[in-house]
Amino acid sequence: TKRRQLVVGNWKMNGNRQENAALLAQILSGWPGQSPVQVVICPPFPYLYQVRDTLQGSAIELGAQNVNEEEKGALTGEVSAHMLADMDCKFAIIGHNERRRLQGETDDRVARKFIAAQHAGLIPILCIGESVAQRDQGLHLQVISRQLNAVIEVVGLDAFANAVVAYEPVWAVGTGKTATPVQAQEVHRHIRQQLGQYAESVRVLYGGSVKAHNAKELFALPDIDGALLGGASLDAQEFLTICSAAI
Ligand code: G3H
Repeated sequence: TKRRQLVVGNWKMNGNRQENAALLAQILSGWPGQSPVQVVICPPFPYLYQVRDTLQGSAIELGAQNVNEEEKGALTGEVSAHMLADMDCKFAIIGHNERRRLQGETDDRVARKFIAAQHAGLIPILCIGESVAQRDQGLHLQVISRQLNAVIEVVGLDAFANAVVAYEPVWAVGTGKTATPVQAQEVHRHIRQQLGQYAESVRVLYGGSVKAHNAKELFALPDIDGALLGGASLDAQEFLTICSAAI
């Protein structure tokens, strides 16, 4: 099966209305109305409306950076998957390492967020990845298996008929230190091997200091289907170059 390449821009906690408008205008003027590459932008929650309206009629889709696992209720400051679907989000990043580390998200909570996202019709982008200490001890494949299986046990393998996995080695995020093609390919293959009948159909993205200069060699690897971008998604030229490299 030929998997459609996917590039996701995660703006994290960056931007304002003026900067967003300028960035989106440049991206839209440089990206065709139809492309073999699927492109998604995940802005901070307050700007979903702005980005949604600006992307209307374009080929670029909207995603969320996080969802709450509950349907609704007394959860001050939280945002449900249904609200995000209602805002025309198509994707939701689940279990990003910044949330696991800084917001204390456990594997179990990540699994419940995955379910909530799918229940609302969003495609979860499940993030997994090892720390530098785990990599140094040679534990990276074990850590990846544990993180992935913790979710599979709760959501079931069939949920991967409609999900994306993102491999983000924590030591490569925002550091300028990208995994080498050999390191990335090893983990991507390992991820597929856990996915049973969905091994060849699930899109597995790489994330961690992907830039215009290194995207092409990562995308050339057989088991990498695109990228989850942080920093590079805030610069229109960089972003467009990476999106084009996925074609
Ligand atoms: O979600 C995006 C990743 O955390 C990668 O971030 O491209 O700034 O390293 P980065």
